[in-house]
Amino acid sequence: MLAIDSYPSYTKTSKPSSESTETTETETMSYQVPKDVVSKWSVEYVGSTPIEELIQKKIDESPEDAFYFVDLGRVVAKYKQWMENLPRAKPYYAIKCNPSTAVIKTLASFGVNFDCASQSEIQQILGCGVAPNRIIYANPCKMKSHIRYAKSMGVEMMTFDNKDELLKCAEVYPNAKLVLRIITDDSQSVCKFSTKFGAPLDVCEELIATAKDLGLNIVGISFHVGSGCMSVASFESAITNSARIFKMAENYGYKFNFLDLGGGWPGNDNESAIAFNDIAAAIRPLLDRLFPEDVKIIAEPGRYFVAESHTLAVNVFAKRAMDTGYGDRKFLYYVNDGVYQSFNCIFFDHNSPKALVFAPGDRTDLYRSTIFGPTCDSMDCIAKDILLPELEVGEWLYFKDMGAYTVAAASPFNGFQSCPTTYYIESDVL
Ligand SMILES: Cc1ncc(COP(=O)(O)O)c(C=O)c1O
Repeated sequence: MLAIDSYPSYTKTSKPSSESTETTETETMSYQVPKDVVSKWSVEYVGSTPIEELIQKKIDESPEDAFYFVDLGRVVAKYKQWMENLPRAKPYYAIKCNPSTAVIKTLASFGVNFDCASQSEIQQILGCGVAPNRIIYANPCKMKSHIRYAKSMGVEMMTFDNKDELLKCAEVYPNAKLVLRIITDDSQSVCKFSTKFGAPLDVCEELIATAKDLGLNIVGISFHVGSGCMSVASFESAITNSARIFKMAENYGYKFNFLDLGGGWPGNDNESAIAFNDIAAAIRPLLDRLFPEDVKIIAEPGRYFVAESHTLAVNVFAKRAMDTGYGDRKFLYYVNDGVYQSFNCIFFDHNSPKALVFAPGDRTDLYRSTIFGPTCDSMDCIAKDILLPELEVGEWLYFKDMGAYTVAAASPFNGFQSCPTTYYIESDVL
């Protein structure tokens, strides 16, 4: 086990290999987007150029289409922050959050592994040249055909949280390395999962006994404190509960050696009630105290890696002025990305993206403004009654921190492009 003051020191001397399987603590790393990603996605090195300057250049080239800037340098910086603060927990990026192949290949090149929730997510990761032993199939309720697929591809590690799933595994994949997902207190998380997943603690013993009877191989425990977690205590109590189940499993002849800390890590420390480094500082000593060094510890960060990497620019292509009835005006604006595209995060991720006026100039009068997406649905509303200067048709708004749970669930409803044109950049954020 690493002592806290002996965390590896990373240098910028050698390039990571995109084929690497595991990054060891002693390896020296180059914190750059890998060359094959740079060439395939035409990643432009932008140094410390402000995002607004980059947006202006694109606006000059493209008169009205919405577009993304994806900063892979920011993804790399998040990896560095993880390794400096929580190196004992190997990150398995939860690709459901944003399955961008450029992001996946960048993370894979640093030895980050992957959390997949379905057959096609597994297919995507394998298709990126990642070995099956770098995948955890972290969906406690799986279709048999998907389990069979995982087996056929050599993906061994998978989560479960109920007896029927054990019966399914006994029938389809008895040699799988099973990880019992326990319920957590997700009361302090924006997206709660404990109503759907996680074995209640008083049911765990029965599940472990059943697995033993079926001759199945449980290797450890996983949990998920909920996405957008705002409490360090939620992580601490889940870790403590995991240690209890480790102990209890010994009564059934199991010697667990695997702990999965799940997702829930903040995507943007400034926007979150808790910062990643604070969670890491609190749980490092707890993990070292409760779990010996032969226990492999992983985590499944999703938004942590990608939230800050995406900036979205949208064009105001239509406008309607209305009388408020109080001698004032209010405005409705129509922009070319909405809740059926990137802004599905308003519903599914309980997010409230903040509209920034691209070129506000010196306009000081503010008006009640509602921003709609492009479809014919009135629910397609990005922001209601916010205060903005009066915008003209053709002006631009932009939204930062749009990388998590945005493009992943976008649809082509009404014939609009599900994902805007994407430009990849590498900024200097290290
Ligand atoms: C099993 C599992 N792991 C990890 C994640 C990623 O969570 P987050 O983006 O909050 O890190 C999710 C998100 O839903 C999940 O369901």
